[in-house]
Amino acid sequence: MPSDNAKNDKEVLVLGIETSCDETAAAVVARDSVTGRGRILSNVVRSQWESHRPFGGVVPEIAARAHVECLDDIVRESLATAGLSFSSLDAVAVTAGPGLVGGLIVGLVSAKAIALANDLPLVAVNHLEAHALTVGLTEGLAPPYLLLLVSGGHTQLLAVDDLGRYRRLGTTIDDALGEAFDKTAKLLGLGFPGGPAVERTARDGNPARFPLPRPMLGREVPHFSFAGLKTAVRQTALTLTPLRPGDVADLCASFEAAVADCVRDRVVRAMAILDDQPPVDSGANDHRHLVVAGGVAANLRLRAGLQALCTERNYTFHAPPLSLCSDNAAMIAWVGALRFARGEINPLDFAARARWPLDASAPPAIGAGRLGAKA
Ligand code: KG4
Ligand code: ZN
Repeated sequence: MPSDNAKNDKEVLVLGIETSCDETAAAVVARDSVTGRGRILSNVVRSQWESHRPFGGVVPEIAARAHVECLDDIVRESLATAGLSFSSLDAVAVTAGPGLVGGLIVGLVSAKAIALANDLPLVAVNHLEAHALTVGLTEGLAPPYLLLLVSGGHTQLLAVDDLGRYRRLGTTIDDALGEAFDKTAKLLGLGFPGGPAVERTARDGNPARFPLPRPMLGREVPHFSFAGLKTAVRQTALTLTPLRPGDVADLCASFEAAVADCVRDRVVRAMAILDDQPPVDSGANDHRHLVVAGGVAANLRLRAGLQALCTERNYTFHAPPLSLCSDNAAMIAWVGALRFARGEINPLDFAARARWPLDASAPPAIGAGRLGAKA
């Protein structure tokens, strides 16, 4: 282990660990307790794509075993890159949910062992909260703001009022947006992970060739639905079979265009709701900031559309750099530092949570009312 970095005594140093899906990651983040600003000292991510590719998606058992095999090395590498040893850390933060439970347990057990052996406090972090607050680390942006969270497992619009205070404005009633990208890629034979493959293929395509549906457009509550869009892609592909490369590119571009229209319409609704009821007692009344986060936030077409919308509506637009959109441990360490600063640490028997909504009071979007499964 190298000798420790000179430690600025205003800075809190947190090791973060992330194993909720198919990335094994560890990072060290420093947070200045006077300015509140953060910096990344190391950020190591090992993707398991190659192990899952033959199956066309993430296999939970394979993911958990792969985390076991490499997490120790990744943690060691993150400390070495930061020039630190365990003894100079102030806390250990780990993703405790939501996610694949086998992987979560691997990360939690390691983090607990590190905390116990080095007498460090443990912070159990919600993975969605980490995506939600990444812009605080990268840009110093603090709540309140409107958040579009788009990943492989979630698609939500949230009012982020403060650390730990989230109001869900809308969610998907079926597939998550990342899932829709992944399934579209799979059915077009573009491989895994699907999002980047669809985006790459769409670059050469004609977005106006196929008039795909725009589910939920104009609905009052800013929920999303992508299952019908995915089915329309499948049906269109079937009618064109055998597909030529140009057809695949046009389908990808038309799919992205439909997604962009749906997302824009839903965000406009959420903006209107937030403009009518800005956050209460958050200490700041300017909520007119839109943040997009999660793996799908890496999509450049989506980012450009949201950027243009923000300019039109007088919102500022924020997105993490591409490398921090997909799963990483710097965002976990950052939330760990924020919670540690508030004295919010967790006991060593904290259990993994496969489900862990940011707004626990939000009613289910499906199964009842007009949005019910039978609607
Ligand atoms: O946040 P994330 O890394 O993992 C989860 O917590 O789910 O998101 C992964 C998702 C995958 O569905 C992947 O296909 C999608 O993000 N994704 C993209 C792009 N890059 C990753 N979707 C569209 N365009 C991209 N460039
Ligand atoms: Zn994620």
